[in-house]
Amino acid sequence: MSEQDPERKTLTLKTRAVKPRPAAGGDQTRARIGARARQVAQLKIAKEKLSRLQAAGSEHSSTERSEEGKPLIVRKAPEASYGDKSYRGERADSRANRGSAPREPTPRPASAPKALPLREGAQTERASALVLDTEIFHVFAPCPTGLEEALAAELSALGYAHVQATRAGCHFVADWWGVQRANLYSRLATRILVRLGQAPVQREDDILELAQSIGWERWFGAEHTLRVDTSAVKSPMQSLQYCNLRAKDGICDRLRDLEGARPSIDTVRPDARVHLFLSHDTGTMYLDTSGESLFKRGWRLDKGDAPLRENLAAGLLALSGWDPEAALLDPFCGSGTILIEAAWIALGVPPGITRPFGFERLRDHDARRWEDLKDEARSRILPELASPLIGIDANPEAIEAARRNAERAYLTEDTIQFELGDARDAVAPAPSGWIITNPPYGERLDEEDVEFWREWSACLKKEFAGWQVNVITSDLDLPKHLRLKAERRTPIFNGALDCRLFGFELVANSYRDKPPPADPQD
Ligand SMILES: C[S@@+](CC[C@H](N)C(=O)[O-])C[C@H]1O[C@@H](n2cnc3c(N)ncnc32)[C@H](O)[C@@H]1O
Repeated sequence: MSEQDPERKTLTLKTRAVKPRPAAGGDQTRARIGARARQVAQLKIAKEKLSRLQAAGSEHSSTERSEEGKPLIVRKAPEASYGDKSYRGERADSRANRGSAPREPTPRPASAPKALPLREGAQTERASALVLDTEIFHVFAPCPTGLEEALAAELSALGYAHVQATRAGCHFVADWWGVQRANLYSRLATRILVRLGQAPVQREDDILELAQSIGWERWFGAEHTLRVDTSAVKSPMQSLQYCNLRAKDGICDRLRDLEGARPSIDTVRPDARVHLFLSHDTGTMYLDTSGESLFKRGWRLDKGDAPLRENLAAGLLALSGWDPEAALLDPFCGSGTILIEAAWIALGVPPGITRPFGFERLRDHDARRWEDLKDEARSRILPELASPLIGIDANPEAIEAARRNAERAYLTEDTIQFELGDARDAVAPAPSGWIITNPPYGERLDEEDVEFWREWSACLKKEFAGWQVNVITSDLDLPKHLRLKAERRTPIFNGALDCRLFGFELVANSYRDKPPPADPQD
């Protein structure tokens, strides 16, 4: 389900004039009818769920529940910039836990009821919340190709069960609050998709039947707008556009039959999003709980040259093994993505803390409990950084963009030092640390470029002995140009661009006062 996967065909349903079945009295009547029908449908669903739960008893194992992180401390952090030294909020955990939800979830009290007897009306909402509390969902989190293992490690560290890395994403299980927490805390996932149905698909009508069989009314209805996306790997289907239409028709048919009205299609800012994924013989339908992609943290408005996506930048930090207490330099910082992500990691700012999510617009969203979850997350943000974060760029506009982005990320001016300069003149701000960077790269290396890399390499060897240098590039010959041996080369996609993250260890004293080694090509 990766948005970056070049092999994957993805299709978005274009807006089409939708003719909702007319109800006498116009929109208001339609809404009223919809609401009444919705109430009945919800009640029916809640009843079914409850009787299933009562029958199932203790079916869910304790491991399946273990990812539930209940709010430990509910306290509103003062409004302040992150990194503001004047802000000294109490913290529920230590530096070691920065950025993570509680690893040890608060156990559910032994006396908590599994299900309550349901009365019509007043208790419907309560019952619905209870179902969300006890039901376990299969979740798929897509991510940039190359970050799968790092995402699996992140999800495991967040306490999720049955985490399994697969192509361009990870599977795991979670209850509904766990789904919300994944949206709030995952730095590497692109979306959090909840699997609602799966069936063999041999022809387009199988998709219609699959879509009709899923209880969409639990999540959205005619009062919502909808977008459906279809992606496929090795699917024999002739037209993904037609598959997408069948999926949309199935959803809308079901809702119209149950509630008398159907959602309208909105491809730009839909309330609800559904993804259909087709493999060679199977269709899987997911409810997208994220809304906009998770790499959109909410702070980026200013883009420099070829900015990295935020979750890829966080992935580079994870793959490089950066210690958030050590110095970090990005000598080609552009709009500051790597450093702003690093600052949020080091301060424990959850990546989703300032943005809205798709699940907030779905039916029966428990806004109070969601606010509690965010308050708990805010209470764990650290007041200041342990080590310097420094960005250099030769372009003054890039430096301005980086500063504005950092400000929008609620970082104080002194959290990241952005400097106008040349990477070849950089000086080490500490005896050891990490360089993690995304230098400019093009299709072809001319004479000037060869000289440029030699000069940067000379600077690294002279100034940064004792540092770890990690460079993402599509230029697979970069180690040769730098005349450095790569200790690690991790394949990773930057959008559709096949890249490597090269890891070099500049051993202290090994380069000082020595003539440069001969070019292996010479
Ligand atoms: C691929 S962009 C980096 C994008 C950045 N990672 C981001 O997310 O915005 C490369 C950057 O290198 C900068 N650059 C080019 N030559 C440079 C040099 N000699 N020294 C420092 N920066 C340089 C460019 O201005 C550009 O902003």
